[in-house]
Amino acid sequence: MTCPVHESIDLPGGRGLLLEPMPEMIRLLREEPVRKVRFPNGVEAWFLSGYEHFRALLNDPRFSNRKEDTPPGPLRATDPETDSTTVTNMPGNFITADGDDHQRFRRMLTKEFMVKRINALRPRIQQIVDEHLDEVARRSGPVDLVPAFTLPVPSMVIAELLGVPYEQRTAFQDAANTLLGLTATAEEMFASWGRLAEILAVVFDARTSDPQEDLISHMLHEQPDLSHEELTTICILLLVAGHETTANFSGLAIAHLLRQPEQLAKFTQHPEKSAQSVDEIMRYLIGLSGAGGLSRRALEDVEIGGQLIRAGEWVVVGMTAANVDPALCPHAEQLDLDRGRVPHLVFGYGPHQCLGQNLARLELEIMLVSLFARFPDIRLAEPIEDLPFREEMIVPGFHALPVTW
Ligand code: HEM
Repeated sequence: MTCPVHESIDLPGGRGLLLEPMPEMIRLLREEPVRKVRFPNGVEAWFLSGYEHFRALLNDPRFSNRKEDTPPGPLRATDPETDSTTVTNMPGNFITADGDDHQRFRRMLTKEFMVKRINALRPRIQQIVDEHLDEVARRSGPVDLVPAFTLPVPSMVIAELLGVPYEQRTAFQDAANTLLGLTATAEEMFASWGRLAEILAVVFDARTSDPQEDLISHMLHEQPDLSHEELTTICILLLVAGHETTANFSGLAIAHLLRQPEQLAKFTQHPEKSAQSVDEIMRYLIGLSGAGGLSRRALEDVEIGGQLIRAGEWVVVGMTAANVDPALCPHAEQLDLDRGRVPHLVFGYGPHQCLGQNLARLELEIMLVSLFARFPDIRLAEPIEDLPFREEMIVPGFHALPVTW
């Protein structure tokens, strides 16, 4: 007997390695694109599958992005005190704000991440990538690309963009592990936030008297209405979001390309299409991301796909389903570097669409092109299925990526 769509079914949880889109996501997309589910962390939500629902919901002001209490999540928290609301209510957290509270900060930051400004970073990003690859080349035998390449490159780029000394990387990498994982207690989250806030306070003092060409200097000198606490929050969000996502996506991209040599050959043989190829690789990878999605809360009763969503109910748009929907492109569950550009939703949609997407795209392009050009015979030192997967983290990826060449 099938369960009516307004009664919850359990969504599969976990963050294991997927080599094809989760069958339950595909079933929901085909059969029940709007249905009530219970997330692995126990929170109930309407789960919307499909490309059109994704775009409609994320652009609809009747749905809020505020997170006053625990939103539906793909992982079961080990400590009930630990959830993403611990630090979401910090002043300046525009990521979970609505309307003017969101736009006030977003407007300040937009120009820092515009295509032109980000493209100007190309030579420096290339230099950072080359230096790390030189270091890899000096070593023999299997090298773990996570500490040697995929983690340090985006960490160094975001640190320089903000103006935070790279020597402080351990603090923001640790903060990412704490804030985006589920093994830490609320106390540990506040402690790692506090450590970063102290480091940032020193940077703010230095840049107040001696401004440089970096984001922190720009904010301090061009945004007099921004409080110290707000700037601290913005910097922590950017430091964390700015390295963790790209680090993990680059590792996933390397492993999955090495698993599909015919696609890797297309990637390396067509450097003129590398930016477009990176977009297709990201679309494909997000299709393997399991039951994750973006959550919002209905501010009033709204009907979607014939179902009444009541004010106060959570709604989640599925990342996998939206990006493997045949409405987006044919045989969307496959990586196909011959397809043209498709308007995927890897970076979200609407007012909260990823602020750092131009940077993420550029970093990934330079990292992947340079790695495969430098090491044409590179291969995984272990089968992809044996790579340690970040089961306990919100952003999927590998803890280690040993390669040889
Ligand atoms: C592979 C890389 C990345 C992916 C897949 C990604 C994905 C996303 C997605 C899906 C959202 C929308 C969230 C929502 O609507 O609830 C988002 C927002 C955001 N991302 Fe990214 N991101 C990436 C890299 C970055 C980088 C490099 C930065 C910073 C430099 C960044 C900063 C942000 C910020 C600040 C927001 C919130 C924007 C807002 O609320 O206005 N992201 N990202």
